[in-house]
Amino acid sequence: MISIKEVDSTNTFLKNLVANSKPVPEGTVIMAESQYAGRGQQQNGWHSEPGKNLTFSLLLNPAFLAVTDQFDLTRVVSLGVYDALEPILGNNLKIKWPNDIYYGDKKLGGILIENLLQGNQIKQSVIGIGINVNQVVFPDWVPNAASINQILQQDYDLQLLLSQICNNIEAWYLKLKAGKTALIRQAYLNIMYWLNQQHAFKAGGSIFNGTITSLKNNGLLIVKNNKEVELEFNFKEIEFLNK
Ligand code: BTN
Repeated sequence: MISIKEVDSTNTFLKNLVANSKPVPEGTVIMAESQYAGRGQQQNGWHSEPGKNLTFSLLLNPAFLAVTDQFDLTRVVSLGVYDALEPILGNNLKIKWPNDIYYGDKKLGGILIENLLQGNQIKQSVIGIGINVNQVVFPDWVPNAASINQILQQDYDLQLLLSQICNNIEAWYLKLKAGKTALIRQAYLNIMYWLNQQHAFKAGGSIFNGTITSLKNNGLLIVKNNKEVELEFNFKEIEFLNK
């Protein structure tokens, strides 16, 4: 584990380390107290008050995993984070597809996975995880955030949480390595936010009511509209509309 005080982004740091130095061992974790250019999904930034939260990146080498199955890595990481947090926070915790950590209707954390592909294989995967832990005030531009402290009304030890998350990700990753794909896919489905509930979505410029019924093996979201037609969506193609 490498702990640094300040960095642009732990994902960028770990990617550069992998690209520029001698082989970096699988399981290497880079943790930062503060990121000045934290990155989120879809070109978003990631805000985190220095010293208050978990912002770290983990290196995996899932060369055994076909590129077409790369969503299984998203599942495994989401399940690991979920299993670490669920004993602390209870089952109000959900994973908002594809990999946001939600508590009720608020976002507690996010995951940014950056894969380095080689042919049909995933050579290296940089798994960036940000969890809001002890921050209690969030800026106006992140209105939907929640933290563990806001939920429990007390601080939680960052190092302890980091090791709980890494241990749980490892356990799920070993299941993936052992070929227990069906189990992993079902377990992910079981913790999905809005599964089997009717809600409003926005896709292709229009708003519609639908129900998430399942996921394709490759991670596409299946939403049944009110004409009972099952539609498939890629990440970026659909927006969840909270009331
Ligand atoms: C998202 O929900 O948009 C993903 C957020 C991922 C944030 C983490 S914090 C540690 C790692 N380094 C980054 O720059 N981003 C990820």
